Amino acid sequence: MSGETSSLLAGKTAFITGGAQGIGLAVAEAYLKHGARVIAADIDKRALGEAKDRLATLAGDRARVIELDVTDAEATEALAERLFKDGGVDIVVPNAGILVLKRAVDLELATWRRVLDINLTGAFITATAFARRMIPQGKGGRIILTSSLFGLRGGVENGAYSASKFGMIGLMQCLAAELAGDGILVNCVCPGQMDTAMMDKLFDARAILQGKPAEELKAAFKAKIPLGELGKLDDLAGAYVYLASDLARYVVGQSLVIDGGWQVG
Ligand SMILES: NC(=O)c1ccc[n+]([C@@H]2O[C@H](COP(=O)([O-])OP(=O)(O)OC[C@H]3O[C@@H](n4cnc5c(N)ncnc54)[C@H](O)[C@@H]3O)[C@@H](O)[C@H]2O)c1
Repeated sequence: MSGETSSLLAGKTAFITGGAQGIGLAVAEAYLKHGARVIAADIDKRALGEAKDRLATLAGDRARVIELDVTDAEATEALAERLFKDGGVDIVVPNAGILVLKRAVDLELATWRRVLDINLTGAFITATAFARRMIPQGKGGRIILTSSLFGLRGGVENGAYSASKFGMIGLMQCLAAELAGDGILVNCVCPGQMDTAMMDKLFDARAILQGKPAEELKAAFKAKIPLGELGKLDDLAGAYVYLASDLARYVVGQSLVIDGGWQVG
């Protein structure tokens, strides 16, 4: 098959939210390279158009893109129903997310709700809509949520985001316990700071808040990471491949931190 470098995930179909760019797109590409079929869903039409071309070049008709707002439970149910009528899904990656940087005391309630709604409730809607259909499919499966290092520790200006990412780990652990008996293994990946558009926005926002150039803040941050650099998306995608593969058949309810040593540095 085109674009394939291994058959680790051959015969599997993966569904990824926030799949049009950044981490989700990197995971889509990695899954395609390891032989899976991929459906990448996202709310951003422009990014979806670009992702469609990029994924088709890599893997032809093994890749599809679909417009979806992960906060829309009805649309997610309808999509899951369609995909399970059309061959089923084995690997689900609730990954769509937004980052808002504000001190908790300055955070408007509407912003708090929006971050929780997309990051946490969106992951709940995706994971449960697909799990409900994976169970009767009887083939087991994988659900791999994208939390964050901020799902394991707090930090300044991260109140809503961090709360949503801690919540995802709680949700993941409960789903992991509930679904393991059906052979559906649920885990989280917790990225540190990856070199993506989201992180550029973070450094730009911090630059305004702190009145310093974004590049200076980025350099200072890199100095705190034992490996001395922000993560590349390829460094991260391997974790999602591992957790989706038979290599991880005894891994349940874990939060795999990929951060260049930031947590321990
Ligand atoms: N970049 C990092 O360093 C980092 C670190 C830790 C965790 N994360 C998490 O990784 C995930 C992906 O982040 P990224 O860095 O690739 O960011 P990104 O902004 O590049 O990608 C996020 C994607 O989610 C999509 N999205 C947002 N709201 C949506 C909605 N309502 N419905 C469907 N799609 C929606 C966006 O359109 C975008 O394509 C997020 O959950 C983020 O919190 C990122």
